[in-house]
Amino acid sequence: MKILITGSNGLLGQAVTSIFTRESDYELIQTSFEDNSYLSFGHIYETLDITSKEDVKRLTDFYAPDVIINCAAFTDVDKCETERELSWKINVDGVKNLIIASRRNNSRLIHFSTDYVFDGKNGPYTEESVPNPISFYGREKLASENACITSDINYAIIRTLVLYGIGNKVKPNFALWLIEKLRNNEPVTIVTDQISNVTMIDDLAYGTLKITEKNLKGIYNIAGSDILSRYDFAMKVCEVFGYSKELVRPAITASLNQSAPRPLKSGLTTYKMESELGFKPMDALEGLRLLKIQLGY
Ligand SMILES: NC(=O)c1ccc[n+]([C@@H]2O[C@H](COP(=O)([O-])OP(=O)(O)OC[C@H]3O[C@@H](n4cnc5c(N)ncnc54)[C@H](OP(=O)(O)O)[C@@H]3O)[C@@H](O)[C@H]2O)c1
Repeated sequence: MKILITGSNGLLGQAVTSIFTRESDYELIQTSFEDNSYLSFGHIYETLDITSKEDVKRLTDFYAPDVIINCAAFTDVDKCETERELSWKINVDGVKNLIIASRRNNSRLIHFSTDYVFDGKNGPYTEESVPNPISFYGREKLASENACITSDINYAIIRTLVLYGIGNKVKPNFALWLIEKLRNNEPVTIVTDQISNVTMIDDLAYGTLKITEKNLKGIYNIAGSDILSRYDFAMKVCEVFGYSKELVRPAITASLNQSAPRPLKSGLTTYKMESELGFKPMDALEGLRLLKIQLGY
């Protein structure tokens, strides 16, 4: 089976490429924005901007993949508020280009979404909960979900949240940023009122492999197994990595003056993934212990 991965140089793109390389015999075609792949597993690599309808068509017609896994996205939620045109082009129009390509070649599309499609008033949310985004990023991701759902292609939408893990040249995620600060003995201000799962990237990539293998359709939540505040997560980082908890100062989200509103009481339930994909994701302590080993600390 041939699988084309978009955004393969991003955090998730690298994790998906790595786990599919290790645990499957699928033929992988890696594609991303940059001239070169950040991973060297020997797969074909092509530069691809998913906003270019022509390039998406040319490449997908050429490779005729059985599955397209879309890991490309504009993921800075605050910048989505200020760079609306560009972020919509990537997060919505880019996905529509992949839907058109999937229809032409009869490919399956696996696409990623977020808990930001919800308002964060009464999480955790199931796959059936009714979305009500409060940020522009959330609206974009919901529009991309709806484009998949209303198309006639074979799709799976994987909703996830607060990803952490390692990758080559990846943007610092919450856990890596926190570890770097605490390691340098710098104080950090962490919110107590944003509650959600945190998700080890290895679990998300593994769940994506299971959804691919089982040819599952529809919406799936894939997230870490416990729901906690960002502050409590920071406490667990201190425990696992041996940093001083006194460096972590509690705050509330409103005091940070971020451009995009955050869903506060959020979280995604994991019952469906556990029963249908057959694995239990790591909780925060397990994920952080693995991260510590991966970082070589
Ligand atoms: N990170 C999270 O906490 C989180 C939470 C919920 C859902 N998600 C979803 O999970 C998916 C993967 O996120 P991630 O954390 O892996 O993000 P990421 O590390 O930012 O990776 C996204 C990749 O897409 C690339 N890209 C951006 N625009 C592109 C375009 N037009 N064509 C091709 N590639 C493009 C980026 O390149 P540049 O780096 O050069 O821009 C980057 O390599 C996204 O759908 C995201 O919305 C993430």
